[in-house]
Amino acid sequence: MNPLYCYESLHHNYPKQIKDLKNLNIQEMEKLVSSWFNNKTLPQSYIFPPETRPGNHVIPRCNTIPVVDLSKALAYERTAVVQQILEASHEFGFFQVINHGVSENLVNDTMNVFKEFFELPAEDKAGIYSEDLKRPCRLYTSSPNFNSEKVHLWRDSLRHPCHPLKECIKIWPPKPTRYREIVAAYSIEAKKLGLRILGLLSEGLGLGSGFFGNKLSESTVLSLNHYPPCPDPSLTLGVSKHCDPNLLTILLQGDVYGLQVLKDGEWIGVEPLHNAFVVNIGHQLEIISNNKLKSAEHRAVTNSKVARTTAAFFISPSDDCIIEPAKSLIGTDESPVYRAFEFKEFLVNYIYMEGNFEKSVEPFKLHG
Ligand code: OGA
Ligand code: NI
Repeated sequence: MNPLYCYESLHHNYPKQIKDLKNLNIQEMEKLVSSWFNNKTLPQSYIFPPETRPGNHVIPRCNTIPVVDLSKALAYERTAVVQQILEASHEFGFFQVINHGVSENLVNDTMNVFKEFFELPAEDKAGIYSEDLKRPCRLYTSSPNFNSEKVHLWRDSLRHPCHPLKECIKIWPPKPTRYREIVAAYSIEAKKLGLRILGLLSEGLGLGSGFFGNKLSESTVLSLNHYPPCPDPSLTLGVSKHCDPNLLTILLQGDVYGLQVLKDGEWIGVEPLHNAFVVNIGHQLEIISNNKLKSAEHRAVTNSKVARTTAAFFISPSDDCIIEPAKSLIGTDESPVYRAFEFKEFLVNYIYMEGNFEKSVEPFKLHG
């Protein structure tokens, strides 16, 4: 077992060992982009091949990703909102929501505490940094495959589960001091918002209310991305092209641009909007909707001026949950596109296929 795994439990009894472990970790932490990027040129190991690097083309920062005013879903315009969300999910796999009901103060506090986490001195982050994939709450750099990947991503990441909250909160970062309190409140609101959006989608698909409110949406994880200013954004990526493997993602992207979505073979930028969330359809929702909703490929580019911090709140089925196209969608003129499977089977394959879209879903497709 990685000795750092039991860091928390050793904490009070063995100050000397902890000091050594911390020092060891501080050395490993030098891999974090944020610990070495200052005034450096882009190292070779961060340069993507010409076919996958962003290059210098101007990507439209568009108005095309639909913006949905959720306050209208409470009023007589509900049907129109349901339709708008359904169409956006079908056409783009992405939309933004405004007037979403999550308090602006909470969203600001949350973003600030996330930024403060990445700005903590190394010794305060040392207990969280880990290269052990089994550690549920960990700070790492690039991707879980740092040691085997061909090119590194220009990002540091903190990831931890949020459900069940009472258990999870104990393993979250102890610093900044308000982290646990603020992020607990945020995770509750983000889950509520996710369920509300899933409710509108199930209404639109005719699945009946409460369809997603059980094991299908039981698991929640926060994944924070921190992209320091980059010496050459045209050559590297913060996150490479992928689809999210979960059910639904609620992304807080703050006020710095970087997210791009692939639509009909072209990249389009998602404009940061004040007090909005970006919502995207994960693979599982695409499968359950029998391809009526689309899980779109997306990536994050970097910029040379300012650090960008984002927070993806992933809503997923429990590991043992059975996923299949919703029975009520299948009828005489519609056949299921996918077989039934356990969610964990999908995840194992997704990790193995490194997020490649076709290969991630291929084993679950019914042919003929
Ligand atoms: C992700 C993701 C995009 C961003 O974390 O899955 O797509 O803009 N992030 O940080
Ligand atoms: Ni993503």
